[in-house]
Amino acid sequence: MTTTMINNSYGTAPAPIGVFDSGFGGLSVLREIRKTLPQYDYIFVGDNARAPYGTRSFSLIYEFTLQAVKYLFEQGCSLVIIACNTASAKALRSIQQRDLPVLDPSRRVLGVIRPTVEQLCKITHTGNIGIFGTPGTVQSRSYDMEIAKMYPDFHVYGHACPMWVPLIENKEAENDGADYFVKKDINALMSQCSDIDTVILGCTHYPLLINKIKKYMPAGVSIVAQGGIVAKSLADYLRRHPEIEQRCSKGGTCDYRTTEDAGRFSSLASIFVNEEVNAQHITLK
Ligand code: DGL
Repeated sequence: MTTTMINNSYGTAPAPIGVFDSGFGGLSVLREIRKTLPQYDYIFVGDNARAPYGTRSFSLIYEFTLQAVKYLFEQGCSLVIIACNTASAKALRSIQQRDLPVLDPSRRVLGVIRPTVEQLCKITHTGNIGIFGTPGTVQSRSYDMEIAKMYPDFHVYGHACPMWVPLIENKEAENDGADYFVKKDINALMSQCSDIDTVILGCTHYPLLINKIKKYMPAGVSIVAQGGIVAKSLADYLRRHPEIEQRCSKGGTCDYRTTEDAGRFSSLASIFVNEEVNAQHITLK
């Protein structure tokens, strides 16, 4: 008889669900997750001190994301949601396949790309899909590959928007400067194909620019934001995986942690989640 050794060095007591992003963007996903699944406890980690990730190299994004996952495991989380497309595109597969079996195979790390792609067949009529993302996400072609696996007949058109995250992180999303970049990037994407009828906001920051995006997007194009999609997919995952669900604590709380200044993070984050945030400063290593 063979025995499987499970390294449960992180403990097995029920603990919050971990949600990670490079910065504030993941709060747009967390907000929707908490609306759908208010009963659970959450720890949100924003690596604001090292954001944006979108223009960083593969190896750095992987290193930073793994540090965040380990940190959340140390807090007891059995389930971690990478609420960042850039980290999902560049680090998730390696973490799932290479690190998780060594760290603790009984824990789960999930991303945001696959649940988004799964919904496309319900939205598009033409099968021509536009993707807005960070340079890292667009260059990784993760959406293209995931869409090709699920819908071989679809065509994917990507466009990187390197200015959108800095605009959001610097509280410029509602100001006039944002109009210039949003209009320019929408034109650049839509000029690739006149028949794009669905555009994925493939960066969790981008819903924070939704007013400007709606202003310049041609009529009739569906804009896909990920928060609600990821929340529904998580609810479904927890229903199908009672062994993980039982390890998620239920107190309805949310702790915010940031690698940047806690005061600065708290004041901005409270705008995104519509509640008072008292973040704690942490160091990821
Ligand atoms: N929010 C992240 C994403 O979904 C990226 C932002 C960044 O560049 O750090 O891709």
